[in-house]
Amino acid sequence: MESVASAPGKTILFGEHAVVYNQPAIAAAVDKRAIVTIKDNPKGVTTFRSDDLGFEAELDTRKKTYKLIKGKPGIIRYVLEILNKWHDEHTPIDVKLSLNIPIGSGLGSSAAVTVATLAALYNYTGFPFNKRVLANEAHKIEQSVQGMASPLDTAVSTFGGLVYLSREKEISKFNTDIKSNFVIGYTNKKGNTGQIVKSVKFLKNKHPRILDSIIKTIGKATDEAKDALMTDNNSKLGELMNINQGLLDSLGINTYELSRMIYTARGNGAIGAKITGAGGGGSILALVPKNAEKVFNALKVEDNALIAKITQKGALAK
Ligand code: MEV
Repeated sequence: MESVASAPGKTILFGEHAVVYNQPAIAAAVDKRAIVTIKDNPKGVTTFRSDDLGFEAELDTRKKTYKLIKGKPGIIRYVLEILNKWHDEHTPIDVKLSLNIPIGSGLGSSAAVTVATLAALYNYTGFPFNKRVLANEAHKIEQSVQGMASPLDTAVSTFGGLVYLSREKEISKFNTDIKSNFVIGYTNKKGNTGQIVKSVKFLKNKHPRILDSIIKTIGKATDEAKDALMTDNNSKLGELMNINQGLLDSLGINTYELSRMIYTARGNGAIGAKITGAGGGGSILALVPKNAEKVFNALKVEDNALIAKITQKGALAK
């Protein structure tokens, strides 16, 4: 018996940091995926392997421990948490992961791996599930592994397309026909999300009136961006990304490398460019209507980059 499931990575378009203070956020699923294959293991051991990441391990799912055979299996904690909760340890399986989402690029690789692994396992065991169940459970798994997690990443990975998280924390999908590419630039320096969120809180406590209004303004930009996306208004979307970038910078989460990537992208044809995710290292997102390769190649000179398109394909299992 073999089960295969996949789930996309995501990028936050608008609302990072402000979402921590109940402002809305928009995220999009992108055409980079985690693919998980589960099959019986005839030798009686449960294994986890990824040729893309160059690792292999034998798992003790009951104790949530593993014996490493090769590589650095950073993402293994999510798989162990899922198998510990949902898999009968007496049925040994092989879990194989293919991943074309770079880890630490702000593209939600852990949420995509979590959603794809859960979907593959539910399918393998015949557990009846729908996307709502999958998104909820994947969010719980991320929370127990990370201590805290926003429901946005796992929702986008499950449902695909564009997702709006409202001030009331309700998640809804909406559509766009915007044809522009997104180019994502990322550094090897990953910011520590927990610490960066705390640093914004610290600044907010020092200057409450100023920071409160900046955070509310990010919320307004997010709502306007939703309109721009729904009416396929590229130039408005780009402008709003640049405005949002200025506001994010004022929260103290920008770095020299992120600024360098933002100005490189804008200088090579991006009509909007901003930090995506927590900042303090990590990634930028650029909106490029024509010749995405030019921005991609310019970013690659000093940093890493990839070209991404919004995908409607959420989690798929077969
Ligand atoms: C990080 O990807 C996004 C933040 O808004 C934190 C969060 O929402 O949990 C910075």
